[in-house]
Amino acid sequence: MTQRTAVITGATSDRGIGMATAERLAHDGWAVVVLDLDAARSADVAARIGAEHGVPAFGTAIDVTDEASVLAARDAVATEVAEGRLPQIGAVINIAGITSPVPFLETDLALWNTVMAVNATGTYLVTKAFLPAMIDAGWGRIVNMSSVSAQRGGGVFGKVPYSAAKAAILGFTKALAREVADTGVTVNSITPGAVDTNIRVGTTPELEARIAADIPLGRTASTAEIAAVIAFLTSEDASYLQGSNIDINGGSHMH
Ligand SMILES: NC(=O)c1ccc[n+]([C@@H]2O[C@H](COP(=O)([O-])OP(=O)(O)OC[C@H]3O[C@@H](n4cnc5c(N)ncnc54)[C@H](O)[C@@H]3O)[C@@H](O)[C@H]2O)c1
Repeated sequence: MTQRTAVITGATSDRGIGMATAERLAHDGWAVVVLDLDAARSADVAARIGAEHGVPAFGTAIDVTDEASVLAARDAVATEVAEGRLPQIGAVINIAGITSPVPFLETDLALWNTVMAVNATGTYLVTKAFLPAMIDAGWGRIVNMSSVSAQRGGGVFGKVPYSAAKAAILGFTKALAREVADTGVTVNSITPGAVDTNIRVGTTPELEARIAADIPLGRTASTAEIAAVIAFLTSEDASYLQGSNIDINGGSHMH
């Protein structure tokens, strides 16, 4: 395979899906760009993954809610490509996200805006910034992170703003997939159920046990199990998936 660069947002959280995805794609031979809020940590995680897997790697800061920050990250990556330290961009994986367990009538506009901004607007801004390079190359893979909460109305941890933001990502994915279908770029999404990460801030062992009991497979997913599906969606083999969504929920939502 031609070596290409995969750009992954939200990729520095220990035990997170983004870091597991960067590791899996580097293992598969991709060059990786690690983008997350903290510049030094993004650079450190990229350097470690690059060294462990023998692939080019670069990390820098991004706040996916801030267009200037997204464009600065895009420009920094473009410089790495132009100067030959990274191969051309072939994939963008929008993983940065936050959730919120606040009941609807206790939410306020600030919370709604924040959850929408990181999950939905972030996916929009990052995709818009990096898509032109893939269109120019005539090949690309975009994978967007939705959630089972978008399909079943929460019911795991995240409530109304989170479910709404993750549902926006499903519509975004399909409409963009249709629009760029003749460019060589595929756009797809995934809807994981509960994954064993630190995102459910303030969760309790009782709630985690209740979540697991609601899953036919009887446990939450590992981050590696999510990364494996992302690896497939970014592969040559996934060439006929366009505007598709893949459920990864242990049977907790079948439809
Ligand atoms: N863990 C689950 O059960 C689960 C299930 C379905 C979907 N998801 C989604 O998967 C994604 C990753 O979640 P996770 O469980 O690994 O959580 P996590 O909290 O470990 O990782 C989220 C990452 O996003 C980053 N981030 C947050 N705000 C950002 C911003 N404004 N700009 C850039 N980066 C930002 C964080 O720094 C962190 O590295 C999220 O989009 C989440 O909604 C998670």
